[in-house]
Amino acid sequence: MRKIAVIGAGHVGLITAAGFAKLGHPVMAVDQDKAKIETLRSGRIPFFEPGLPELLSEVIASGRLSFSTRIKDAAEFAEVIFICVGTPSRGDSGESDLSALEKVTAEIARNLSAYCLIVEKSTVPALTGEWVKHTLKTLGPEGASFDLAANPEFLREGSAVSDFFKPDRIVVGVESDRARGIMEEIYGSFSAPLLFTDIKSAELIKHASNSFLALKISYINAVSHICEKVGADVNLVSKGMGLDRRIGPGHLSAGIGYGGGCFPKDVASFMHLARSIGYDFKILSAAFQANQEQKQRALEKIKKGIWNLNGKIIGVLGLAFKDETDDIRESPALDIVRLLLNEGSRIKAYDPAAGANAVADCPEIMLCQNPYEVAEGADALLVLTEWPGFAELDFARIKSLLTAPVIFDGRNFLPREKLQSLGFTYLALGRP
Ligand SMILES: NC(=O)c1ccc[n+]([C@@H]2O[C@H](COP(=O)([O-])OP(=O)(O)OC[C@H]3O[C@@H](n4cnc5c(N)ncnc54)[C@H](O)[C@@H]3O)[C@@H](O)[C@H]2O)c1
Repeated sequence: MRKIAVIGAGHVGLITAAGFAKLGHPVMAVDQDKAKIETLRSGRIPFFEPGLPELLSEVIASGRLSFSTRIKDAAEFAEVIFICVGTPSRGDSGESDLSALEKVTAEIARNLSAYCLIVEKSTVPALTGEWVKHTLKTLGPEGASFDLAANPEFLREGSAVSDFFKPDRIVVGVESDRARGIMEEIYGSFSAPLLFTDIKSAELIKHASNSFLALKISYINAVSHICEKVGADVNLVSKGMGLDRRIGPGHLSAGIGYGGGCFPKDVASFMHLARSIGYDFKILSAAFQANQEQKQRALEKIKKGIWNLNGKIIGVLGLAFKDETDDIRESPALDIVRLLLNEGSRIKAYDPAAGANAVADCPEIMLCQNPYEVAEGADALLVLTEWPGFAELDFARIKSLLTAPVIFDGRNFLPREKLQSLGFTYLALGRP
């Protein structure tokens, strides 16, 4: 077993820390956010993630997971330090803001004593490892002994715990046999393929993968446009395409577009990296643009279904960027809510997990306790996040509560025939 520290106890770091502790390693999770560490120490969870409360209480009780707010503690404790801090976009240029990564690296460097393997797990543009090594060398003590590895994370919020234990693949960029040996040992019990690469390739694999998935979503959204015009059903087209093993069914559902804390910023960062080396990544710019337009397209569709938006009460089900999470970062559902507010609509909304986060971000939202309360007196109902329960609502009751029986299915997953037979006007993207 290796003593592991994880810096950044967020959606990736907390799962990583708890996951390695479950596998038997002594782990210290460090975050600069004192309130978050206090929450964790008191046995509470700072965000919604299925399976995480059970996992955390198990590893905390085992004594294998401890918490700190000081990187110094991590450097003294650990042989292996995973860096999992955020790498958001720096405004419109798309460039990644790597200042948290730099700050953490500098602090690790200043506290290096014995050999340490530092692992870049945050998503970063290729060549970031060069800066990390430079910082460790220049700020670390004379002759400091360390290695750097890049180990991008591929987990998905909503299924992060099972994704941690059962990933499709584990990618590790290394530059020394010692680093490779440690990572082989840490990941030895996983059944997934373990791909060793150089550090730059590992960094690039993450950006290239996320950008490709975003591209796939924008592609099917573009196809949904054509479907609408020719009277085809994009759900059937997507099913037919996904059955081809070369294509696969994942990320092939048309809807209001991709969002979240990863795809938008990773696509933007990958385009920025390309620009910085003189390559115009046109195919990605098109995917990015299509994703922006998709929300406007949704608005136009809603307008067509209910005529004027000014003064209307619009019911919204789903505010998180996807189901099974309370994360609202770059949520397309919230983007649509804002577009509607700009049109003069009033918004009543419900989300099983993300309501409080959404209201903190957009206080104009009138938060409801359940879908039926949302429907009561609303002029239309929009379903914008694919929470499974939303497809099984009592739609006859919903209809009786709405002022007009109009429903917009932003994720193409509601029972269309049933809704139509109940007398709803069913609106969707790419379905006749
Ligand atoms: N969220 C995902 O689904 C996901 C999946 C794969 C990869 N990633 C990548 O993982 C990285 C982390 O993402 P996240 O979603 O976990 O972010 P997050 O915002 O949930 O967590 C980041 C944490 O880092 C902490 N932090 C920031 N600066 C710090 C510092 N100087 N010292 C100590 N702690 C610090 C923050 O307080 C926060 O708790 C990003 O690069 C992201 O792109 C995220």
